[in-house]
Amino acid sequence: MRAGMVRFVGRTAELDQLHAQYAAVVTAGLRCVFLEGAAGIGKTTLLDRFLTDLAAANQQTSHQASLAGSRPAGRQPSRSRRPASIVRVEAAESARSHELDLAHRLIDALADGSPGAHPPARRGDAADDDAVLDVDRVRDTGDELVDAMTRTCGRGPVVVRVDDGHWCDASSLRVLSYLVLHAARLPVLLLLAGRPHDSPWVDGVRRLAASGGATVDLSGFDVPTSRRCARPRASSRRRLAGCALSSTGRTAIPSG
Ligand SMILES: Nc1ncnc2c1ncn2[C@@H]1O[C@H](COP(=O)(O)OP(=O)(O)O)[C@@H](O)[C@H]1O
Ligand SMILES: [Mg+2]
Repeated sequence: MRAGMVRFVGRTAELDQLHAQYAAVVTAGLRCVFLEGAAGIGKTTLLDRFLTDLAAANQQTSHQASLAGSRPAGRQPSRSRRPASIVRVEAAESARSHELDLAHRLIDALADGSPGAHPPARRGDAADDDAVLDVDRVRDTGDELVDAMTRTCGRGPVVVRVDDGHWCDASSLRVLSYLVLHAARLPVLLLLAGRPHDSPWVDGVRRLAASGGATVDLSGFDVPTSRRCARPRASSRRRLAGCALSSTGRTAIPSG
C-alpha cells in the first residue's frame, strides 16, 4: 500500500454491480450508472477503486495479448478482450455557469486530452437550471461527442467517469443524455456520480440510467465495516480521516 493511500473497505455489492454493468457494455452496448450520495459518503473512492480494478484487468489482457502474438496478421482481438479506455472528467463548481464546459472537456479528453477550440457557449444563469438552453448547440455538441466516442470505441470499450455531477452545467447534462440516447450500440460505460441535487436535467440522466443501466444510492457503512475502515494497519499508525460513526451509531459517514 502506497503512503497516503487508505485501505479500501466494503462496497462489495456496489463493485459487483459496476463490474456487471461493464460486462453488459461489452456484450450489449452503452450503459449508464448514476451514483448518488451525500458529500464524503465514498462516491469518488468507490469509482476510483472500480477503475483501478479495471485498469489491472486491462494490463492482464494486454499481457495475454502479447503472449498470444502469434495471432494471424490483421485479425483483431474480439471486443470482449480489448482493454477499456478510461476517461475521467470532473464538474467544477466554478464552471457550473459555463454552459457546455463539461461536455467540451469530455470531447477533448476523448481526443488527445489537450483543450480544443470550441466556439464560446452562451453563459447560463447558475441559479436557474430551467434557463432556456441553446437547443441547437446542445444537439451539435451531442453529435460531436458521439463522433469522438465512436472513434475511441474503435480501440475497444470506453469507460467515462464523470465526478461531482452536482456541479455540472445543465447543457452538459443534456449532452450526456443525448449521448445515451444516440450511442446505444457503442461499448460505453458512463458513470455519473454526484450529491443529490434538484435539477430536471439530472432527473433526465437518472431516468435513462434506471432504464439502461443502474442507479445507486450510496449509503453509509454498517458498524463492522466502519470499524475495519477506522482501524489502522500495523504498518500504518495514521488514523483514517474519512470514516467516522454517524451520530445514530448505525452507519458510518465518511467525512470530507
Ligand atoms: N470504501 C472506503 N474504504 C475506505 N475509505 C473510504 C471508503 N469510502 C470513502 N472512504 C474515505 O472517505 C473519504 C471521503 O470519500 P470520498 O470518496 O471522497 O467521498 P465523496 O466522493 O462521496 O464525497 C475518502 O477520503 C476516504 O478516505
Ligand atoms: Mg467525491
